[in-house]
Amino acid sequence: MIKIKSDEINIYPLKKLIEKGEKKLEKNKIKESKLKIKWIISNILKTSIKNLSLYQDYKLSKKENQLFNNYIKRLLNHEPVQYIIKETEFFGLDFLLDNNVLIPRIETERIVDFAIDSIKKYNYKNIIDIGTGSGIISICIAKKIDQNISILAIDSNINALKIAKKNAIKHKVNSKIKFLHFNILKDKLKKNFDLIVSNPPYVSIKEYNQLDKDIRFFEPKSALTDYDNGTIFYEKFSIKGLEWLNKNGSIVLELGGQKHSIKIKKKFFKRGWKNIKLINDFNGDTRILIAQN
Ligand SMILES: C[S@@+](CC[C@H](N)C(=O)[O-])C[C@H]1O[C@@H](n2cnc3c(N)ncnc32)[C@H](O)[C@@H]1O
Repeated sequence: MIKIKSDEINIYPLKKLIEKGEKKLEKNKIKESKLKIKWIISNILKTSIKNLSLYQDYKLSKKENQLFNNYIKRLLNHEPVQYIIKETEFFGLDFLLDNNVLIPRIETERIVDFAIDSIKKYNYKNIIDIGTGSGIISICIAKKIDQNISILAIDSNINALKIAKKNAIKHKVNSKIKFLHFNILKDKLKKNFDLIVSNPPYVSIKEYNQLDKDIRFFEPKSALTDYDNGTIFYEKFSIKGLEWLNKNGSIVLELGGQKHSIKIKKKFFKRGWKNIKLINDFNGDTRILIAQN
């Protein structure tokens, strides 16, 4: 644990404080230090990052200082800033989160785009979001689709569902989403759906052990890895998904890059899925599989 004296960085106007904080983080090899400092300060001052320029000469109060020093300490211990301030941004919306849920990744925005396209194109009504976590996928779909839809958002982690429910209320879409504590690998689905959407745990246990400690020490392990070879959920989806879907249904899944995608595409092909497509994310990595039953 890196120690920081509680009165170490507290006598400066905000502009200087940001510079000092940034240097301290950089010296300790914390990435994106400037953005992180701005994020914690805007959280302390309950304002947006954009508005921080209005506070350049502001000096933090004693209470705000204590909070600032505590947050810096946590950043120095590699804790993700989103867990410190308990919020994040995804698809242009603000979401609450804590360490029971995965921090949403920008790549997942592409899944939301494709899910929304298929719902509009085929006039889908019943959707299931498997492994909803903070609820981001379901909530973004519910926000962007005006037509009458019903989403079942499931997760095996009851604490993740608590956060997801809070987010649905925050975004006023709780009437469109039903949250259910459900283990997709063990429990039996009783209803059929037009669209299955999922960003399941897809890191193999071997890869998991090599991830950065920022991820391993703070994000929930069961959200990241299937404790196997990274294909357990896709194996299940490729077999059972055909039963879970209504006629002319679709599946939209996040994938773990090039090698992983090829393995998963083969599974879906073998089980008789139609119109299987792999789609790249904004970095050019194969990231999404879409297919129809
Ligand atoms: C990669 S995270 C995705 C979270 C969120 N959908 C997102 O995209 O940020 C995977 C989620 O699947 C959940 N999960 C893991 N195993 C599960 C299982 N057997 N049944 C249902 N959900 C599961 C985890 O708790 C976690 O919330």
